[in-house]
Amino acid sequence: MSVLLKNIKQLLQVHDNNVTIVKGEAMKILPIIENAYLYIEHDTIIEYGEMKYCEGIEAETVIDATGKIVLPSWCDSHTHLVYAGNRTSDFVDRINGLSYEEIANKGGGILNSAKILQKTNEEDLYNQAMKRLDELISMGTGAVEIKTGYGLTVAAELKMLRVIKRIKLESLAKIIPTLLAAHAIPEAYKADKNNYIELIINDLIPKAKALNIAHYIDVFCEKGYFDLKDTEQILSAAQQFDLRPKLHVNQFNSFGGVALGVKYKAISVDHLEQLNSNDIDALKASHTIPVALPGCSYFLGIPYTPARKLIDAGLPLAIATDYNPGTAPSGNMNFVVSAACINLKMTPEEAINAATINGAYAMGISNMYGSITRGKKANLIITKPLNHYKEIPYAFGHNPIDSVVINGQFKAIKNPEANFRIS
Ligand code: NIG
Ligand code: FE
Repeated sequence: MSVLLKNIKQLLQVHDNNVTIVKGEAMKILPIIENAYLYIEHDTIIEYGEMKYCEGIEAETVIDATGKIVLPSWCDSHTHLVYAGNRTSDFVDRINGLSYEEIANKGGGILNSAKILQKTNEEDLYNQAMKRLDELISMGTGAVEIKTGYGLTVAAELKMLRVIKRIKLESLAKIIPTLLAAHAIPEAYKADKNNYIELIINDLIPKAKALNIAHYIDVFCEKGYFDLKDTEQILSAAQQFDLRPKLHVNQFNSFGGVALGVKYKAISVDHLEQLNSNDIDALKASHTIPVALPGCSYFLGIPYTPARKLIDAGLPLAIATDYNPGTAPSGNMNFVVSAACINLKMTPEEAINAATINGAYAMGISNMYGSITRGKKANLIITKPLNHYKEIPYAFGHNPIDSVVINGQFKAIKNPEANFRIS
């Protein structure tokens, strides 16, 4: 199957060389071609350029993208989209003044989500998650990391992994699974969390590895959850099984989680709402990418990750949704890109870099996703007619998307008849 998109108003994030990350000053640059064409075959980007060079290119399907902007799909590198039920009662408790910690202590929080998930059967869990994923795809996301972490027993964590595997096999989106068994200390282990850590290390990790689904390990490294010693124990065991860290650190407190992540060669360290100069220094000497989650700060009313400090220190930055029932019940990357501009003071170019190529890097897939580059996967957003790409973050809360291409397949979002003028 071959498709030619022509008369594209602006083709964004075009790299002739296979760039896999952008850092610091370079994040201000978003390479674009005005009045462009893009040619794809099956699931692969084959060619692109200015319209004046399009003559003679033939394709089975030709789509006129006059007035529209085309860019790589969003790469959402941090989600917990497999969950059961919701946490609207936590939401209302917070409106009434309770903190995340107080809500968790009164029986809400992660443990409550785990209770519901443990009782939910695999089929139901799969159906709930697939529905969410389809919605994300329609909002422009083409690659998604999905964590476990609402199981908190060996059986329920493995159930989550199997659900993620099924999603990976059945969705057109690129799925990256992460094992987050150390998300909270289960009620049964409250008196001795070491027994839970031992269970993760001696039982769950080997079983998870045998399923060959997850390539990453995550730990919620935070006061009241897993401290530095716990986190190191888990990371060092996971290392033996080739599970690379991708960590929750510095959400509420900064106490060395970033440096620990760097020590264990984490691919990413996520949250960073609390950040000090030691954290920045640790990141400077690493290949670990920091990830900001503005939807979580927005929803909880906690500080935003100091993106300017990170980028101005020459570091890369990715942004992601953190889609989960407790702290970010939205998987809308368009909103995250807007919030990055409005609240993190990132320019539209920085935000789009953070949500595409750098998001892909934070999942370890930026050699194949996150830019318009020959040979990369055809995962694309086609916007509604817009005057400029800056309107994507500017019109916050609006849906800029007309249609998406996912793994080479076209999906019209609304009114499929009207979306494509096929000539
Ligand atoms: O990334 N902070 C830890 N994990 C999630 C929240 C999980 C929950 O509250 O259900 C997060 O914010
Ligand atoms: Fe998270």
